[in-house]
Amino acid sequence: MKILIYPNYEQMSVAAARFVADCILDKPRCVLGLATGETPIGLYAELARLHHEEGLDFSGVTTFNLDEYCDLPKEDSRSFHSFMWRHLFSHVNVDPRKVHTLKGTAPDLEEECRRYESLIKDTGGIDLQVLGIGVNGHIGFNEPGSPPDGRTRVVTLTAQTVEINRAKEKVESLPGRAVSMGIGTIMDAKQILLLAAGRSKADIVHRATRGPVTPSVPASILQNHANALFMLDLEAASLLETGFLNTPCAAGECTV
Ligand code: GLP
Repeated sequence: MKILIYPNYEQMSVAAARFVADCILDKPRCVLGLATGETPIGLYAELARLHHEEGLDFSGVTTFNLDEYCDLPKEDSRSFHSFMWRHLFSHVNVDPRKVHTLKGTAPDLEEECRRYESLIKDTGGIDLQVLGIGVNGHIGFNEPGSPPDGRTRVVTLTAQTVEINRAKEKVESLPGRAVSMGIGTIMDAKQILLLAAGRSKADIVHRATRGPVTPSVPASILQNHANALFMLDLEAASLLETGFLNTPCAAGECTV
């Protein structure tokens, strides 16, 4: 596991976008796994800028989103489908036929999860999976206790996750169930890029990267991934080394 630390959220987001852009430049028909949440918003804004100002071409790219709430039509502004179009897809030249999100309103959710898994397989697998991290260590919607080899499935969210997301999104309510890629699905990605920013993530980043590998901290399982890169801002990295905040970062990034 490699960890890169940036002085602030903006620089972390620019570096993350450069990393994703390099993946697209290396392989124009690459398959990206994408995340929602506040953290990747800066990354998506920078990818949109790279598209407009530097011609970064998304036309060959296939995307799979990590998760989706159950029972929200995709047009609902709270759905992750809406989030992705708002923050990324409508700002780049992605081919809508190559954009995949889980359908949380599918009549047969088990079947929907199987469909998603085989679609990922049919495209050759995910080249680069972007992740955020919940304060309880969840990745996608794999809450603590999720099986390390789990596949895409219906999950029940903890009351804490629903409340945190509800408050962040400033909405009255959110469903308590979701469909999510499993940790096994995520671990199959060839490269992982996890982003974390802010003091509220410092404790869980420390546990995920320095603590034991355990299902009670789902992100810790990424320690077993051959190509996992964590990009952090200084605040999210603040518990990794005592006194780190007093250590200046050379050239905007440090490797731990
Ligand atoms: C959500 C998403 C995750 C995301 C996490 C952190 O519940 N399902 O994919 O990584 O919360 O979100 P944020 O970046 O807003 O802290």
